[in-house]
Amino acid sequence: MTQFLVCRDADRLALAAADLFAKLARDAIAQRQRFAVALAGGSTPRPAYGLLAEEPLSGRIDWPRVEVFWGDERCVPPSHPDSNYRMTRRALLDRVPIPGGNVHRVRGELPPEEAAAHYRLELQMVMGGGGRFDLILLGMGTDGHTASLFPETAVLNDEECSFVAVYVERMGSWRLTLTLPTINAARHVVFLVSGESKAEALARVWSGERLPAALVQPAEGELMWLVDRDAAAGLVPG
Ligand code: 6PG
Repeated sequence: MTQFLVCRDADRLALAAADLFAKLARDAIAQRQRFAVALAGGSTPRPAYGLLAEEPLSGRIDWPRVEVFWGDERCVPPSHPDSNYRMTRRALLDRVPIPGGNVHRVRGELPPEEAAAHYRLELQMVMGGGGRFDLILLGMGTDGHTASLFPETAVLNDEECSFVAVYVERMGSWRLTLTLPTINAARHVVFLVSGESKAEALARVWSGERLPAALVQPAEGELMWLVDRDAAAGLVPG
């Protein structure tokens, strides 16, 4: 099932996302004693991460039972300003009592293919074969990419691997990303989309254009779009 929630502004989007994260964590831990989540990079999710690091939400989450992964990473060291790991450490992980062994960093400092192979092994070890994420948080770019699944890249057709390295021509750089089969196996996938710069891409996705973000269709999971009014501007008829 796909749900679509339009929030008045970016602050309320962050609050809705943080509340949902805490609820899904509580439910997963109650049912399976673990909450396996893949965090999104970029700038949109950062305010929500900050809310999760503060009361009242932080105290509602049993952090030692949370396993943190990333949906994608740039091919940079963890200290690099572009690192998604660095952003989420500073916004959230350094501020909550999550054990170090529960934080599964993508080793962006390694050669891309080696980093991807290492992460596939880590996913296999922690999640087990066929393991499903309880939650995958995703953003969306102005071109409709999500994670590091960019338009017209071969990775969109990868049915074999859980996590791969991909050279993104339009960015002139390597990226590391979960693949669609892994994303679509998740129990819950939540897009966070904010700002008028995303309105055109969101309208294209919503109209059925097969942009990468539109290919996220969890087979047996729940899909939710949390957007703000500016991002939804292209969806309002007239
Ligand atoms: C990344 C993200 C990427 C991001 C979108 C939106 O590594 O950058 O995974 O997919 O979610 O580009 O980015 P913003 O939230 O900064 O607009």
